Amino acid sequence: MSFQTRSTHLLKQLRGVNPFGGDCLPSRVSLFGFGRPTLPFPHLWNYKNPLKIFETFYYGSEREAGSGKHNRYIYVAGMPPVLLTREPAIIKAVQAETGDKPGQFDRDTSPMAGIARATGTDSLLYSNGSVWRKQKRLSAEPFSRANLFQPEKFHGFEQTFRETVAKRLEALHSHLVTTGQQTVRVELEPEVKVVMLEMLVNNFFGGNVACEDLRARYVPAIEMLIAHMIGDTVAPRTLTLLDMLTGRHAILKQKSIDFEALTDIALSGRAEGCGLWSQFKSEATNQALRSNIRVFLAGAMEATSSFASWALSHLSRRPDIQDQIYEEVKNMSVYDPDNLMHAVTLNRVLEETLRLTPALYFLPRRATADTWIETADHRKMFIPKGTQLRLDVWHANRCEQFWGKEVTGYPAEMFEPKRWDILAQKGISSRDMLHFGFGHGPRFCPGRYLGLLEVGLVVGAAVKIFKFTAVNERAEAIAGVSTKPADGVLVDLELRS
Ligand code: HEM
Repeated sequence: MSFQTRSTHLLKQLRGVNPFGGDCLPSRVSLFGFGRPTLPFPHLWNYKNPLKIFETFYYGSEREAGSGKHNRYIYVAGMPPVLLTREPAIIKAVQAETGDKPGQFDRDTSPMAGIARATGTDSLLYSNGSVWRKQKRLSAEPFSRANLFQPEKFHGFEQTFRETVAKRLEALHSHLVTTGQQTVRVELEPEVKVVMLEMLVNNFFGGNVACEDLRARYVPAIEMLIAHMIGDTVAPRTLTLLDMLTGRHAILKQKSIDFEALTDIALSGRAEGCGLWSQFKSEATNQALRSNIRVFLAGAMEATSSFASWALSHLSRRPDIQDQIYEEVKNMSVYDPDNLMHAVTLNRVLEETLRLTPALYFLPRRATADTWIETADHRKMFIPKGTQLRLDVWHANRCEQFWGKEVTGYPAEMFEPKRWDILAQKGISSRDMLHFGFGHGPRFCPGRYLGLLEVGLVVGAAVKIFKFTAVNERAEAIAGVSTKPADGVLVDLELRS
């Protein structure tokens, strides 16, 4: 930030002036206060609970009138304002105005500093401006629906999935036979992660890594690196010191070596056009692609595992919906896109899962210039240059005003796929009611089709083979890079037949 901008911010801050303008005026959150869940910014003691930090922004906001209820900001002397919004119309307007044109919003990379140190800065996720545009063009083809949903590609994913699940099924079956039990208590999330990484490495990138290696070596490496990336964003120096003192430093180094080895495997299929590499047309060297491959491996495993784990977690509390999905998939011998498309309940479950428990719970943006945004109903907000925006999808999708009984027929915080039928009866589709599960606008998720394909496959097949019942009454959430069920989807699992 220039000296002049800094001084302007400082003056406004000292005079208590609201730096925003227009008819959607955000309201101010003080830095310190009593009775709130935590402080409204991350520090060493609260950074592992970002949802609580966001919650703090809305503390007392019910007293505000109009836009101030859902749009909140903090403004610290000498720093740019931080705006948190849970208003879908504002989230949509900002997303639509994010891109590489002059004056548009950038993705704010400050909450990703740790990710960039581990993956590199020149990835599609991290870059902005012309670098991002180029990356976007390059990745479009391999990620396209047309490519991923070609029958032979799809059957490859399905085959890998079946083989992995078959092995686990055998193990489960013999466990039940030898113990004489009807059910076995397991955490499903670790299983989901292995399957997701396997489909990505072996099908998408055309690798050939044994499931056991993924389970024992590569999944733990990615998990540990992701946990490290978050702390490394909030308190890099303190964390490095702590790692050295506790000996974690050496373990992390080994995990980085493992992650690099996996990146090599993913790249090794390129020369022969294995997996989806056949659709990738670029002169870029393998070295130049490494950051993106790391982001795809770690990010995709994280996001697809979050999505599938949440769907299984919700279903573990709804045996009625498991039975409905079972009716849809019981005669499905091939999980191809056509068949999956006709599984109406399954698709509603996936939509509702992303709404209530989005994998990416907030989307960061930065104003590159003084900007006016306009909502679909022609309300305007002035956002000053340098503002850091946090588009709080998690709380937007749980807000009664936008997703509650009056609008969708069911309370906003309830998992109820039927709300999509009610919306459909009113002529409202998921395009009209955006939950931003895959983002919106130019920086929309390129992995959407791949993700939906994998998650549909995993959830559909799980219901076809098992009945599963949650051990814990409530599905609490934890959040890091993505959100997850806090209990790892702990269920009592029973074979259907
Ligand atoms: C199925 C689970 C997935 C979910 C819920 C998900 C969600 C999202 C969301 C919400 C965004 C927008 C972020 C923003 O606007 O700031 C995004 C972007 C992105 N996603 Fe995904 N994603 C998933 C799967 C994948 C997969 C499988 C890949 C790649 C293999 C992927 C790669 C990316 C990349 C590279 C971006 C950045 C795109 C850009 O900035 O232009 N995602 N994802």
